Amino acid sequence: MLPNVNFTETNAYKYLADHYIDITATHLKDLFKSDNQRFENFSIRFNDILFDYSKNRIDEKTIALLIQLANECSLKEAIEAMFAGEKINVTEDRSVLHTALRNVSNTPVYADGKDVMPEVNAVLDHMKAFSEAVISGEWKGYTGKEITDVVNIGIGGSDLGPVMVTEALKAYKTRLNAHFVSNVDGTHIVETLKHLDPETTLFLVASKTFTTQETMANAHSARDWFIASGAKDADVAKHFAALSTNAKGVSAFGIDTANMFEFWDWVGGRYSLWSAIGLSISLNIGFDNFKQLLTGAHKMDEHFRTTPFEQNIPVIMGLIGVWYNNFFEAETNVILPYDQYMSRFAAYFQQGDMESNGKSVDRNGNAIEYSTGPIIWGEPGTNGQHAFYQLIHQGTKMIPADFIAPAISHNPLGEHHKMLLSNFFAQTQALMNGKTLEEVVAELKAAGKTEEDIAKIAPFKVFEGNRPTNSFLIKEITPESLGSLIAAYEHKIFTQGIIWNIYSFDQWGVELGKQLAGQILPELKNDDKITSHDSSTNGLINQWKEWK
Ligand code: F6P
Repeated sequence: MLPNVNFTETNAYKYLADHYIDITATHLKDLFKSDNQRFENFSIRFNDILFDYSKNRIDEKTIALLIQLANECSLKEAIEAMFAGEKINVTEDRSVLHTALRNVSNTPVYADGKDVMPEVNAVLDHMKAFSEAVISGEWKGYTGKEITDVVNIGIGGSDLGPVMVTEALKAYKTRLNAHFVSNVDGTHIVETLKHLDPETTLFLVASKTFTTQETMANAHSARDWFIASGAKDADVAKHFAALSTNAKGVSAFGIDTANMFEFWDWVGGRYSLWSAIGLSISLNIGFDNFKQLLTGAHKMDEHFRTTPFEQNIPVIMGLIGVWYNNFFEAETNVILPYDQYMSRFAAYFQQGDMESNGKSVDRNGNAIEYSTGPIIWGEPGTNGQHAFYQLIHQGTKMIPADFIAPAISHNPLGEHHKMLLSNFFAQTQALMNGKTLEEVVAELKAAGKTEEDIAKIAPFKVFEGNRPTNSFLIKEITPESLGSLIAAYEHKIFTQGIIWNIYSFDQWGVELGKQLAGQILPELKNDDKITSHDSSTNGLINQWKEWK
């Protein structure tokens, strides 16, 4: 059972509300001036990851009160409930055990009274054997040629994780080329298939439910394309595999269940890259590296489960997020990886975070009167600096930012990495310090500007600063460190869901759009004038019918 506490009614919340008034009166740079141990006090080292949260609008009292809040909301008990396989996904009556998928310690984990580890390990063995056969070329296509290209067909959690990890770990690429088709817009599959050869292409149909409209449409189009090349139905087995919980659906599609990689309903879609959904990752970086990814995540799981909250990276990340979300009323959280390979990291956690904590009903089924999940967004640095950072620096909104960078680049080219990192270090400093009017005036004077020019331009060059950031400096982006980092963000989301007293593992809000699309589709199959909707929807559909 998850605890059920309205966090705004805790003692800690009341103390935090008072403490917020003190903190808002203090500038971040003054917090540094008054504590020469601030970096040591507010940073955590975890294997090859340094998490520096000292550039946040917090002091020791803030952290103590936030931890009191976590305790009053029984976070520790909630963490145990998840790891122990309790059915904490109440609205779907399911356990939440993505942690079992990466439980490399292999200790028993129970769901519904049954140890899931033997099944988890059996699927991992299947993934290993399959990946090695395809990568080595032992697995042949229907004309006897080796597979050269792997196309993962899936959407949401059956796409974003594999896309993000495959891209982030491109430096570990095998000889196989990775492609991902998600959008039901025909352009996505048409453009992907244009450059592929059916004789050397392997499709992975990735869908937990095996009913998702987009994925099924793309899978059927891929099959048609394959058969149109002259292949027979029996050849499908050599070119299509399924990653799913739905064996019946897989058979009905015509995929041999020997080529089905199973997972279970206790794996949430947006937490599924660790499951059979990760087969595209295993094919693209090799199974051993995939295992390292699981190992890194497992190490973070252990850290989350056993480390006191004061030293617990996901707990601290989560609590600081609550601090900004519910006291500073920050609405968004930007994720800024200074690593081109990590270009899809923010997009991945848009689903991870927003599909989990985008909720407005508490665990009693009551409407919530406080703010829950933040809007997650972000792009890699330095590109973002030349696009949207202006608003982070000088806009009217507070945007807590996570900066992530590897110390060692996989592509050490001249001075590039030093240039990249100089920007990474400079940005968090600039966001914190800002620039005072006096500094601006002195700078303009030194540049030889007249008093008149200075008076005119100075106000626009003032930066308030005091803008909070977290920094993750990671020795190198390896499968293991990436696994740890992803798991840290997952557990941050969990921590916040517990504080906000919501269910983080369902996603009913996605259903309405799907249902309505299902109703509208038949109306698009004839030329009749549509009158059954509101006037806007009717007008749009009827105009489309005229133009199509
Ligand atoms: O968008 C809703 C959703 O259910 C996600 O949670 C999920 O990751 C995605 O659709 C894909 O679902 P499936 O893997 O069942 O095709």
